Amino acid sequence: MGPRGRLILIEGLDRTGKSTQAELLACELGSNSVLLKFPDRTTPVGQLIDDYLKNRHNPLPDQAIHLLFSANRWEAARRIESALFAGKHVILDRYVYSGAAYSCAKNVPGMDMKWCLDPERGLIKPDFTIFFMNNGHESEQRAGFGDERYETVQFQDRVKHTFLELFETWENASYRENNMRFLNVANKSITEVALEVKQIAEKCIRQGQDEILRF
Ligand code: TMP
Ligand code: MG
Repeated sequence: MGPRGRLILIEGLDRTGKSTQAELLACELGSNSVLLKFPDRTTPVGQLIDDYLKNRHNPLPDQAIHLLFSANRWEAARRIESALFAGKHVILDRYVYSGAAYSCAKNVPGMDMKWCLDPERGLIKPDFTIFFMNNGHESEQRAGFGDERYETVQFQDRVKHTFLELFETWENASYRENNMRFLNVANKSITEVALEVKQIAEKCIRQGQDEILRF
């Protein structure tokens, strides 16, 4: 059996170019890679999520939509694991950190970070996480900003702080140092960012790591 593939996550705020870069990286790695975007809106659970995001008056309680986002990841868990063991690299466009940061940023009583992270326990953890940052309000100038729930400047500010708190307080120092990179994408071209992402991914693939990490 050959070496297992690497699980590489691209995370960040809305409209920072994550999907574009995840696609470019998957293209770069070719047929030896699989790209998965969360939420995966194609599954039955994903359709409920899509409906919620597009319809600001959807009455689903915050707890219920949080658990659906998590269920949407669990739906894909076996697929991810088999791909990795088949030697394929799996590129993720958002994952557990988005799940915790967006829900926790809503400040719903009882939905603290621990509550938000609990349903994610046991999911495979990325071998490497690249977190896309920008300087502040560039996202709102991107085409389409504001179309979906959560795309308001105020909420995005809260999400950004919650992401940072999540990495600083709830992620372990060794993961932060060895398995993560914060990448400022502000004022960078798609090509520039793609090159950095490619270099990070190639390093992660070269280094290798046998055991699967878990949340
Ligand atoms: P997308 O724009 O990347 O398709 O994501 C849709 C929205 O869903 C985005 O605002 C982030 C949010 N989200 C959550 O709230 N929880 C999650 O678990 C995920 C994956 C995304
Ligand atoms: Mg979006």
